[in-house]
Amino acid sequence: MKKKILIYKDIDGLSSDYVTKKIIDITKKKCGGKDHYVEIGTFRGFTSINNSLNNKNVKCITIDNFKFDKKNQIKFKKSVKKYSVKNLKLINCDYEKAFEILKKNKIKIGLLFVDGPHDYRAQYVILEKFKALLSKNACIIIDDANYNHVKLATLDFLNNNRDFKLISQKYSKIHPADERLNKKKSTNWNGIHIIEKNTNKNPVKLKINKNLALKFHVDSHDIQRHYFGNRVLDVLDNLFYFFKSGNKKYLNQKLKTIFNKNKKRTFKTNF
Ligand SMILES: C[S@@+](CC[C@H](N)C(=O)[O-])C[C@H]1O[C@@H](n2cnc3c(N)ncnc32)[C@H](O)[C@@H]1O
Repeated sequence: MKKKILIYKDIDGLSSDYVTKKIIDITKKKCGGKDHYVEIGTFRGFTSINNSLNNKNVKCITIDNFKFDKKNQIKFKKSVKKYSVKNLKLINCDYEKAFEILKKNKIKIGLLFVDGPHDYRAQYVILEKFKALLSKNACIIIDDANYNHVKLATLDFLNNNRDFKLISQKYSKIHPADERLNKKKSTNWNGIHIIEKNTNKNPVKLKINKNLALKFHVDSHDIQRHYFGNRVLDVLDNLFYFFKSGNKKYLNQKLKTIFNKNKKRTFKTNF
């Protein structure tokens, strides 16, 4: 009889029950023996600890540089201790360094869960690098697939690696980043892609607004060479607070400070 999946809700996380159940289920099918579960993006351990507890025979590894907040590592360790998790190892560094560690230790991966940095480069580089460690019929789950740049990285990877197929894609309408949903109950569920290696299953066609995704990437060069480029998040945040509060201080003082620090650089000198 199939063992019931138990989700431990008191473990902090930025992932959903839906994704965690998928991880647990696919780990049962693809991991065991030498084939590890490897995850990029530990945060406080919701997905990794829940998976390890539901798959005690599987060796699990989770990777995080804890760049958002060092407290996340402390909370992760507390939950590991509380549940006496024995089959989960933490690699505390950037995913590119972690890859070298896994390679050196000849780690084989049955399921790779990608939930770390979600910029285009990271998404693509993770898939291209980690594929060398995947076992013959391995699976990849990609979180935060709602975003166009995440979809584009998946698409580029699939186009360049014909032995991998997208077998499932699910997108969510409700996400905490969506301001319009403030009043509705939101979840951490933000879409997933499931990719399989050497599978006989029929692939699904990736749903993407490719023109929009490509335009953004072409424009990103002009954003990066603009004198406001390396402060673009500050600039956008100030605009956001200006429109939200109508308070001109966000436009007058803060943007001026950023401008004054950069005023020797013009758009043209950045060519
Ligand atoms: C969305 S959270 C992961 C959520 C987690 N799976 C859960 O169950 O709650 C993303 C994590 O990726 C980590 N991260 C960001 N950039 C990273 C990098 N370059 N290398 C490794 N981890 C990174 C962050 O520190 C953060 O904890």
